[in-house]
Amino acid sequence: MKVIVNDILLNHIESGHPHGLPVVFIHGFPFNHSMWELQIKNLPTSFRVIAYDIRGLGKSDIGTGESSIDKHADDLIGLLDDLKIDKAVVCGLSMGGYIALRAIEKYPERFKGLVLCDTKSESDTEEARQKRFDSIKKIESEGTLDFSRDFVKKVLSKKTIETKPKLVAELEHKILENSSQGIISAQKAMAMRSDTTSILKKIKVPTLVMVGEQDEVTPLAAAQSLKEKIPNAYLEIVPGAGHMSNLENPKAFNEKLISFLNRFEQTLH
Ligand code: MLT
Repeated sequence: MKVIVNDILLNHIESGHPHGLPVVFIHGFPFNHSMWELQIKNLPTSFRVIAYDIRGLGKSDIGTGESSIDKHADDLIGLLDDLKIDKAVVCGLSMGGYIALRAIEKYPERFKGLVLCDTKSESDTEEARQKRFDSIKKIESEGTLDFSRDFVKKVLSKKTIETKPKLVAELEHKILENSSQGIISAQKAMAMRSDTTSILKKIKVPTLVMVGEQDEVTPLAAAQSLKEKIPNAYLEIVPGAGHMSNLENPKAFNEKLISFLNRFEQTLH
């Protein structure tokens, strides 16, 4: 379903119980809300589950002007406003985590809990930023086909690549469903994002940090740093998974996520 949020039409889906604890999923770059399908299907129906396409990706509009993680954070809050949700547990993977961290910095009162998957608080190094601009140039001249193949190889563990060819093909396909402009705009937003490390100590809500055991994009050390700096954080490692931990080992991922959310429901909801 599409709703007007800030300057765009934002696509989202909703399932579960309308009065349940709201859990909002933010996907990673450069996918769409459907990367959470295996979580949405398996969460207890007592939760109110929302997943959306961030601006420029999936079926959400790209909007006008340059995109930024700040704008993405404002979109999240705009969506909560539209859905009349005062506070939610927000679960973001990678770029979704960058957005969640920026949003909790700006709007801490809108959070009941936080799940940070395969992500980090540090901004890009000069080298990482340059790589993004090189990749943007390549997409501008060649399109997204090679980019999609290289990207998927980078984010999945060796084990996943060898044993799950269907997942590899599906992820390449999901990337190709996005426009080049959408992918470029998200890359620019990530390249220019500010560092959120200094705000981690101010996070008051229970936080689950998850990371794929073989994540090479945002490795275990980044997750450990989040866990150490956020006062009320737990760290869970997803065995056998790379950067796309929720898709590579959904069983382990879901167990850890559901156990965190259940504890929550009992104590805080
Ligand atoms: C993602 O998975 O969202 C991106 O790979 C993160 C990044 O490029 O920093």
